[in-house]
Amino acid sequence: MSYQNKHFIQNLQVVIAVFLLLGACKKSTMSDVRLAEFDPTPYVIDFQNNSLANPNLPLDNPLTIAKVELGRRLFYDRALSLDNSISCATCHRQENAFSDPRPVSRGVGGAMGDRNSMAIVNMAYNTNGFFWDGRQTLLRHQAIDPIMNPVEMKETIDRVINKLNINPINKIFFLRAFGETEITEQQIGFALEAFMLTLVSDDSKFDRYLAGKVQLSDSELRGFNLFKQEYNEFFPDDSGGDCFHCHGSNNFQVNVYRNNGLDFENEFEDLGRENVTKNANNRAQFKAPTLRNIAVSGPYMHDGRFQTLEQVIDHYNNGVKLSSTLDGALQASQGTGLQLNSQEKADIINFLHSLTDHQFLNNPKFSDPFRP
Ligand code: HEC
Ligand code: HEC
Repeated sequence: MSYQNKHFIQNLQVVIAVFLLLGACKKSTMSDVRLAEFDPTPYVIDFQNNSLANPNLPLDNPLTIAKVELGRRLFYDRALSLDNSISCATCHRQENAFSDPRPVSRGVGGAMGDRNSMAIVNMAYNTNGFFWDGRQTLLRHQAIDPIMNPVEMKETIDRVINKLNINPINKIFFLRAFGETEITEQQIGFALEAFMLTLVSDDSKFDRYLAGKVQLSDSELRGFNLFKQEYNEFFPDDSGGDCFHCHGSNNFQVNVYRNNGLDFENEFEDLGRENVTKNANNRAQFKAPTLRNIAVSGPYMHDGRFQTLEQVIDHYNNGVKLSSTLDGALQASQGTGLQLNSQEKADIINFLHSLTDHQFLNNPKFSDPFRP
């Protein structure tokens, strides 16, 4: 056989192989769409410890394996953005507890938002709104916002649905999750909500300590006590950081909006909660978020102004700025600062590190399904 002929036959073989492969995929996908049916198998959240009891799960959107799987795909699908360049995970990275290491995220075309991306951790325990200003009450509605936000995904729901419809595999996932042939905005919201509700972190060193499985170090324990201890201006020896006040409960969050003294009155660039309530008493108040996985979810605060936990502690220790809506608990220490010495500051930081949950950050169930 001449070299030419051999080459031709080899090429032909490749062409036939590709042809068969395409045909096979297409055929099986089409029949899969026809065969696909609603799968109500419940999804059971895999709690590792007892620290998070009774999650607040929506009764009208029960977690099913099929729905959670679909939600995970949507979370990582770049088709949700105008130019198919970014997905939710672009600004919510698993290794950063589903937050973004950039102070403010970049949307389609490099558009700059004005707030730091938030960690997505234990959303079921967020009972008082989503976003830094709490402008959405339901996670299913929250999930639709970034798709349409001009500095985020900048897309329309209709176009997203059209794009999803092009790929028969999506049809199969939607059918299994909802049993309906039409893809709708509500389904997208429900599926993303379901996936995000499964992002449960309860296996940090601290959780294992609570469960009696491990010991905290002396420094971590001292830090935990300082975290819980109220500030006491008269007895510095008995005075703590009073962090529990706003970051309490086993989820280190008590669902409040507060002004934690980042700026003076005339420096407010973001009115926060006031934008939502239109009430001046809420000026510059922001969601006090969970501190779980805080060591990996920097930079910190709604505008990502602090790079390190050291800077955060220094802020609370002696950087709190007075303004009319500054939280009362922080006003108490305003003149003197918390008076934490360097050992105490290190102790609190060590304690905060014990809230890092490596299982959560590496859990393959939460990772990108499109990446082999
Ligand atoms: C361009 C970056 C970007 C993209 C893309 C993005 N987000 Fe966000 N996300 C943010 C920022 C920034 C905030 C805080 C915004 C605010 O408070 O105004 C946020 C907040 C959130 C919150 C609130 C968490 C809380 O504790 O209140 C959730 C949940 C969330 N995003 C989910 C999603 C989902 C789901 C998608 C995809 C459909 C998505 N995000 C896409 C940047 C992004
Ligand atoms: C009066 C309520 C209050 C107290 C007390 C308080 N915080 Fe906060 N904390 C907040 C609020 C509100 C925010 C978000 C503020 C913002 O972004 O504008 C926040 C943000 C943070 C953040 C950044 C979270 C993130 O995801 O960016 C950390 C870390 C933190 N606090 C740690 C602490 C520690 C440690 C203490 C105790 C020394 C403490 N806080 C005491 C209300 C409080």
